[in-house]
Amino acid sequence: MAGQLPASLITGAEPEWAGLYDPRRLRSTVREGASLLKQQAEVARHFVGDRLKSGHVDSIAEIAPGSDAVVRVEGRRCAVYRDEGGAVHAVSARCTHLGCLVAFNEAETAWECPCHGSRFGVDGEVLHGPAVRPLPPRTT
Ligand code: FES
Repeated sequence: MAGQLPASLITGAEPEWAGLYDPRRLRSTVREGASLLKQQAEVARHFVGDRLKSGHVDSIAEIAPGSDAVVRVEGRRCAVYRDEGGAVHAVSARCTHLGCLVAFNEAETAWECPCHGSRFGVDGEVLHGPAVRPLPPRTT
């Protein structure tokens, strides 16, 4: 390839893969890099900021049927959903992908991670990656 490329540039018969070695390809990489940095800043904002937010309720007993909350139970953040029948579904609020805190999506009745978009069922099962492990159950 090292010999073919200069020869093809001289003859004008540029191969398809020549763009891989084009020094101008770095411009698009820099553009993509800015987007990547912006995404990572958003992840960091959720990773830190969501931990500083206080929970919606002080105890699980305050969660009404059909409602959710992220509460601290024995020092650990739990994602708790009380279904319409009154049953409590409690799982770890820490996403199993990289550890951001999940938030409830009422329209989907699912826990979602704001960092990379993983989605979990109310009992912690993975509905959508990148996470591959379920949210561990928590006793309340
Ligand atoms: S940390 Fe939750 S999807 Fe990446």
